Amino acid sequence: MPRERNGRSGFPEPSTGPARQAGSSAPPARSGDGRMTENRIVRLEPTAPRSASAPAPAARVHDGQLTEYDYSNFYWGTGEDPFVILQPFREWYDQAHQWGYYQFGQPLQTAPRTTVDVVEAKGRQRLEGLINFASYNYLGLSYRPEVIAAAQEALAVYGLGASGSPILSGTFDLHEQLSEELADFKGTERALLFPTGFAANLGAIAGLMRPGDYVIADQYAHASIVDGIVLSKATPRFFRHNDMNDLEKKLRRCDGKKLVVVEGVYSMDGDIADLPAIVELCKRYEARLLVDEAHSAFLFGEKGRGVVEHFGLEGQVDIQMGTFSKSLGGIGGYIAASRSLISYLRGFARSYVFSCAMPPAIAAGLRESLRLCRQEPELRARLWENVELLQGLLRGAGIDVGNSQSQVIPIFVRDDQRIFRLGEELLHAGVFLQPIRYPAVSKHQSRFRISVSAAHSKEELERGAEIISQVLGRHSS
Ligand SMILES: Cc1ncc(COP(=O)(O)O)c(C=O)c1O
Repeated sequence: MPRERNGRSGFPEPSTGPARQAGSSAPPARSGDGRMTENRIVRLEPTAPRSASAPAPAARVHDGQLTEYDYSNFYWGTGEDPFVILQPFREWYDQAHQWGYYQFGQPLQTAPRTTVDVVEAKGRQRLEGLINFASYNYLGLSYRPEVIAAAQEALAVYGLGASGSPILSGTFDLHEQLSEELADFKGTERALLFPTGFAANLGAIAGLMRPGDYVIADQYAHASIVDGIVLSKATPRFFRHNDMNDLEKKLRRCDGKKLVVVEGVYSMDGDIADLPAIVELCKRYEARLLVDEAHSAFLFGEKGRGVVEHFGLEGQVDIQMGTFSKSLGGIGGYIAASRSLISYLRGFARSYVFSCAMPPAIAAGLRESLRLCRQEPELRARLWENVELLQGLLRGAGIDVGNSQSQVIPIFVRDDQRIFRLGEELLHAGVFLQPIRYPAVSKHQSRFRISVSAAHSKEELERGAEIISQVLGRHSS
């Protein structure tokens, strides 16, 4: 049981914030279809009461424990039983949920358009017409009619799932077509499809690197990169974020096989890797390079191939990883690389070999997304106009967006407690924006993260920026 910190038994009521009540006037928002709507609040039926067999309600947690504790306080449990940590965690979490953690995983009731309806998990209200700054749908492709039609057609032919590992019965003609089209788009010899982007990083890193080797990653590397390193049992080295001197220092000290891993656009900060310098260092120190293009593929570069194209470095990066869950609006991941690397990973990437292939209908939808991405460069042009507009509005209002150079725009709060209060107010003021807290970022680095889409209208961006600046303004000291 985590020890009581301050000895007080009082416990604050969950933060209420100036939430608007049902029927109160709300600021107008534009719908994802471009219609002007009122965002409004609909009260839902309360959740079912606890059944008699359900565990008893947890004991009250003290206020210090509630607001200062986080997941790190519940990593280790004492004794012999791995379940010993569950009860104290639940005691804390039941109240922490109401206090703010409820903001994670609130269900959407609409497609991830530029406005969405969300079930607010604390008061069980449906909040309608919220400006959506939280979805990765950077090109608005997940709900394009052409994409839906392609997926529906394949669904009718192939059914729901692939029903097999890709090396056994799970590869369909649609998968082969998608991987060929993707390799052609990326300009690499081959591409290997994975069920998720997470699985792609895990499979590529652990499939290639061995105990005694070194994996040198940016300190802000995504969890799937970190877990890939852990799984590989190679020696990890983390260099300071985008700090080339530190990368060089680490490379100089590693005597053995080396893989450097960076992200094209950093997922929580929106800044871009200094790829020309990284490529140069990798050549000098004979290290291989993996670039995770989860947030940059299909967006950066004249053809949309990613930051590798953006910097004119095609042919100089050994492994390009990416996901289908962001710009293409589907699910899945890929490794684009040489024919020899791909055929090796086909045997050694365990998250590829021992996991079911992505559903064929998803592959069909992704082929259509990729076709639209190639045929409509205006989508990228619109995205970059939107990014420029929103970044300008936020920076102009004095909001700290860090060093963002992309559609990923952090709004730094750096207060792990206040972020929940702000999140609640933003939600009720008409903006769907997720708080990002430890363990997704370091402690005291809490932020909101905006995802801009090509589909956002100018009015949505202006209205969203206005709401954010009003809510943050109320809390600035
Ligand atoms: C940088 C980065 N790499 C990999 C992933 C994993 O991708 P997926 O969600 O498709 O599994 C993410 C997901 O957010 C990411 O941000």
